Amino acid sequence: AASSDNIHPSLTPNKILNVSHRGASGHAPEHTIAAYELGVAMKGDYIEVDLQMTKDGELIAMHDETLDRTTNGTGLVKNYTLAEIKELDAGSWFNERYPDMAKPEYVGLEVPTLEEVIQHFGKDKRYYIETKSPAVYPGMEEELLQVLEKYNLVGQNAPSSKVLIQSFSAESLKKMHQLNPDVPLIQLISYSKPATITDEELNEYMSYAIGLGMNYTRINQEYVQKVRDHGLLIHPYTVNNKEDMARLLDWGVTGMFTNYPDRLREVIKNR
Ligand code: G3P
Ligand code: CA
Repeated sequence: AASSDNIHPSLTPNKILNVSHRGASGHAPEHTIAAYELGVAMKGDYIEVDLQMTKDGELIAMHDETLDRTTNGTGLVKNYTLAEIKELDAGSWFNERYPDMAKPEYVGLEVPTLEEVIQHFGKDKRYYIETKSPAVYPGMEEELLQVLEKYNLVGQNAPSSKVLIQSFSAESLKKMHQLNPDVPLIQLISYSKPATITDEELNEYMSYAIGLGMNYTRINQEYVQKVRDHGLLIHPYTVNNKEDMARLLDWGVTGMFTNYPDRLREVIKNR
């Protein structure tokens, strides 16, 4: 059975979750403390953190497997030590790409480690953490759990809503589930055609996950209702305009990932 029997009340489908995708990444350089802070200021319920792992086994907040797009470095994250990655500028690319939103304080921002993010925001904030490219990083799940345990974000007492773990890799999620069945998991799916989902697929997901996240562009009301009817949470990504947000809420989604948590907050407030 899914571990949804005993999940935290804040994860019930009645609470619409506003997830700051890579932080408030529509406003500030993704996966920097600045973008996460803005997500919190805009009342996002969760800070979304994508994970990559350095050559020396440190988990860092970064979307891509390579440094090129979001830093002034080049090449694969896994070929660099944390000390090397700490030398990079993770903010200037944003100023160059989005001159209208450029800010001098973004110049020279560091790539944060997962630990630094947790140290900065503490236990009062909530983290929606993705194991990216787990096949490239053996031991990623163990390292992640170790960090979460170190900061008491997962524990024996209750499956915590402080942390949700998400992945496109069912293997990675099943490994997490084996290592600690109390951590709530979200299976990510990417549809390239109009989405349908069978009872068999849903039952399989429910054996380890409490919810699903998928590209919102391929789903419809029937899909959303079917997922909800199985008691799973449904958090589509990455929804940036208000019309789409409102439509998805009408269909019954239980939250969503957005680069604009400010917009989602307004849509939720005005309903
Ligand atoms: O994790 C939800 C969404 O972020 C998945 O896509 O590529 O932005 O990590 P991506
Ligand atoms: Ca993600």
